[in-house]
Amino acid sequence: MFGKKKDKPQIDKEQLELIQNAQRRIKQKKRLYTHFVIFLIGSVLLIAANIGLGIGKEIRPFDQDWFVFVVILWLVLLVYHFINVFVFNKFMGKDWEQNQLDKLVAEQKIRIEKIKSELKKEAPHIAESEVYNEELKAKTKHSELTIIAAAGENDAIGKDNQLVWNLADDMKRFKELTSGHHIIMGRKTFESFPKPLPNRTHVVISRQDDYQVPEGVIKVNSLEAALDIAENDSQPFIIGGGEIYELSMEYADKIELTRVHADFEADTFFPKIDKTVWKEIENTFHKKDSEHAYEFSFITYIKK
Ligand SMILES: NC(=O)c1ccc[n+]([C@@H]2O[C@H](COP(=O)([O-])OP(=O)(O)OC[C@H]3O[C@@H](n4cnc5c(N)ncnc54)[C@H](OP(=O)(O)O)[C@@H]3O)[C@@H](O)[C@H]2O)c1
Repeated sequence: MFGKKKDKPQIDKEQLELIQNAQRRIKQKKRLYTHFVIFLIGSVLLIAANIGLGIGKEIRPFDQDWFVFVVILWLVLLVYHFINVFVFNKFMGKDWEQNQLDKLVAEQKIRIEKIKSELKKEAPHIAESEVYNEELKAKTKHSELTIIAAAGENDAIGKDNQLVWNLADDMKRFKELTSGHHIIMGRKTFESFPKPLPNRTHVVISRQDDYQVPEGVIKVNSLEAALDIAENDSQPFIIGGGEIYELSMEYADKIELTRVHADFEADTFFPKIDKTVWKEIENTFHKKDSEHAYEFSFITYIKK
């Protein structure tokens, strides 16, 4: 009550422009309406003057009363007025629209410039952190996914869900390399074992939801799920068979291959090793002897 300040009007410049435009518009429409009313009255008066009072009765262009032409002319003017108000003169007027558009464009330009300069400042930091992340990833990638397999010269690896050779040193090496690690295999390879191998975590891949595995064996339904299970293992092994080797080639970092130097009749094969992708880094030849019916080589490949 006492000393209460009057609130200042909270209308900004743009709102004011809007109000002024609206007022202009109302005036335009009022003028059109007035024109229409005057036209109606004027026309009646003209008709009355001509026909009723006989003013200019003798003036008959094209054999018509003169008021006909005057009324038509006036009607044309009224239509022009109408078109002018509703068609050519849009609600806010072209100038106003253009003005708003220019303002908007100018504001956007300023914002773009601001973003650009912020980006310039940020770019080195972003690049730095990307490099850092890459390095970190390389440092922290402690897992070396390794395919381990024995294959004949013709890539044969098995027949009737069994191996087609018995090489003691190959078995020994398999045991040495895989002990303490995850061994990932297809359901068929798992079934080719009489029982799970000691001291290794078995991860068996099968599409069957209800496939039962003994206690301690992990069953998954995809290779990706198997790799997730083994992610903390420094060297998980893919141990076969043919289907799972095929799937794993793109994920693996290393192949420990025992190349048995003979051709074998088989129903399962190791995928071709693409020499443009894989580089041989070790090769140890093993002769035939009383425990080994074939010559073979331990070959290590790493992904280039
Ligand atoms: N020489 C060697 O080094 C070596 C090593 C291991 C095995 N082998 C031999 O290889 C042969 C077995 O190999 P294999 O190719 O027939 O079978 P496998 O690869 O051991 O297992 C195939 C099974 O794995 C599951 N599987 C495959 N792809 C899958 C996917 N994308 N998602 C989910 N599950 C998938 C399916 O199980 P479900 O049917 O249950 O869905 C499929 O039947 C045997 O002869 C074995 O002795 C040789």
